[in-house]
Amino acid sequence: MGMLDINIMKGFIRFCDDGWQQGWHERNGGNLTYRLKKEEVAEMKPFFDETPRPWVSMGVTGENLAGEYFIATGSGKYFRNVSLDPADCLCVVEINDKGDSYRIVWGLVNGGRPTSEFPSHFMNHSVRVAATNGATRVIYHAHPANVIAMTYVLPLTDREFSRALWKSATECPVVFPGGVGVVPWMVPGGADIALATCEKMKKFEAAVWAQHGLFVSGPDFDITFGLMHTIEKSAQIWVLQKSTGLPELQTITDDALRAIAKEFGVTIREEFLD
Ligand code: 13P
Ligand code: ZN
Repeated sequence: MGMLDINIMKGFIRFCDDGWQQGWHERNGGNLTYRLKKEEVAEMKPFFDETPRPWVSMGVTGENLAGEYFIATGSGKYFRNVSLDPADCLCVVEINDKGDSYRIVWGLVNGGRPTSEFPSHFMNHSVRVAATNGATRVIYHAHPANVIAMTYVLPLTDREFSRALWKSATECPVVFPGGVGVVPWMVPGGADIALATCEKMKKFEAAVWAQHGLFVSGPDFDITFGLMHTIEKSAQIWVLQKSTGLPELQTITDDALRAIAKEFGVTIREEFLD
């Protein structure tokens, strides 16, 4: 029995592999974090390093995450390699009692640090934990090509993207009835993009990063992966449809979106409908 036999660690590794197989993680693209449950931390503790590494200030604060533990992908690590060598590619970090610093307690055995987007992940965990009454555990960032392609040709508004995605596949209004937020192009990896994404994630469970990728949140691995998958699939249909060059003869109407929401018992964001 070791760290890699723990179920939640197996799930994290499988998630990385699934993302790689979808083609969303060229090179070191993308990152994943999971907020551990108390019982999962207890299961892992026997395998933590004897001496944790030094505290590192994050430049952002999430008071509601003080004392929490996260599994995170390492900065510069390839999703492709995670399942081959999890202890080289992943880490477990502990958050301090102020909620402004982390220290590595397991993993990254050949050195390194958590993803450069850790400030974004951390702040978005903080916002989503508050917005979902503690239910959110997963934040996932990937580089799915079709979502990125859309950001070159559609106005970068929450409304335009939500409508385009809802109308490109009938399941979409059921899977993300709240729609998606859109963050304009920004330098990746810092506190600024973290704060801009947080503003969107107060309202949405997914945020598009223009010319970069997609950020999603959820309560578990299946739902979070499924959200990324559904949004990217819909974006692919949108891109394929536009690529025919043919005029659009029919689409899912706004009233049809309302009807889907009613049938499936979800609340679609009415302000985005005509
Ligand atoms: P990391 O390798 O630091 O996780 O960065 C990848 C990425 O996608 C940045 O947005
Ligand atoms: Zn990225």
